[in-house]
Amino acid sequence: MVKTLENIRREEASDWERNAEFYRTDDHSPLMQSLARRREQFYEISAGQRVLDLGCGSGAVVASLRRRGVDAVGVDYAQAMVDVARTEYGLGEQVRRSAAADLPFETNSFDVVIANGVFHHLAVQEELLPALREVRRVLKPGGRLCCFDRNGSWVSTLMSGGCVRIKELLRIATGRQRFASCASRNEIGFGDPDDLKTIRGFDFDIIRQQQVSTALFFFCVVVLNGIEYFLSSRLRSFIECRLVGAITWIDRRCGWRQFCVEQFIVFNAAKCARKVVASAGRQAALMEKATAPQTQVGETVYE
Ligand SMILES: C[S@@+](CC[C@H](N)C(=O)[O-])C[C@H]1O[C@@H](n2cnc3c(N)ncnc32)[C@H](O)[C@@H]1O
Repeated sequence: MVKTLENIRREEASDWERNAEFYRTDDHSPLMQSLARRREQFYEISAGQRVLDLGCGSGAVVASLRRRGVDAVGVDYAQAMVDVARTEYGLGEQVRRSAAADLPFETNSFDVVIANGVFHHLAVQEELLPALREVRRVLKPGGRLCCFDRNGSWVSTLMSGGCVRIKELLRIATGRQRFASCASRNEIGFGDPDDLKTIRGFDFDIIRQQQVSTALFFFCVVVLNGIEYFLSSRLRSFIECRLVGAITWIDRRCGWRQFCVEQFIVFNAAKCARKVVASAGRQAALMEKATAPQTQVGETVYE
């Protein structure tokens, strides 16, 4: 099929509707929970802060923050994700259906915006720049943007590209739609220096960064998902419960970028126009791209 921007967006959107059930169970897996705990520690969000989780998925992060007294809300454009967040975690209006590029919130209304595993998907949909503009708008001056995303290392690029191709092969071999994530073929390895410049161009400074998810961790997650899908979820839990201690121990100790596939980053939104003046040219170019009319349907053809 010819990959126009419109059918990439359609494929991405329908993948997320289908993936909601997978996220409902995966969030509870010991490996994912260990990563989530480390991420929450790294973000240093305090009780009483107002927080938006952008692309919140099944709502696990919003629920966990709310339990700690944080005034957290989430948005996701997949209705199935919003439904899971409501049934699994009892979240009501705290989770809404909304596209990242059009946030239903007032200007300067959040202390923190979280984007876990979302930006590389927005890039695929060409929504990254409009979404960053929205994030900047809803964040208070001096607020924080906390991200978890790819780190642009060769191992990250190799493994994510390999996974997409394996998923495509499995989809063809089994006819099961669960593996249809073909739009992801166009993902960027978000987090390489040029990609980070894109965020910084919106007047954000990096204040903390940590490499996480070693290749071993990522590989184990993929194998465990395969065991669950093709064999049984009980076998997956049996193996995972025995391995989780060793895998997380290695993962915590190895922070070398080339062995890791992902990273946590905390950005600070500048309080004044200092950087806008300093980088007016680049900012203007990015903003122009962000506000430009969307590509015509059928105009862009992706490889
Ligand atoms: C990799 S999942 C991450 C979910 C969650 N943040 C987590 O860490 O488990 C990406 C999420 O982003 C959402 N998403 C993708 N594109 C989006 C868009 N344009 N606007 C809003 N949400 C989007 C998807 O529906 C999905 O739930």
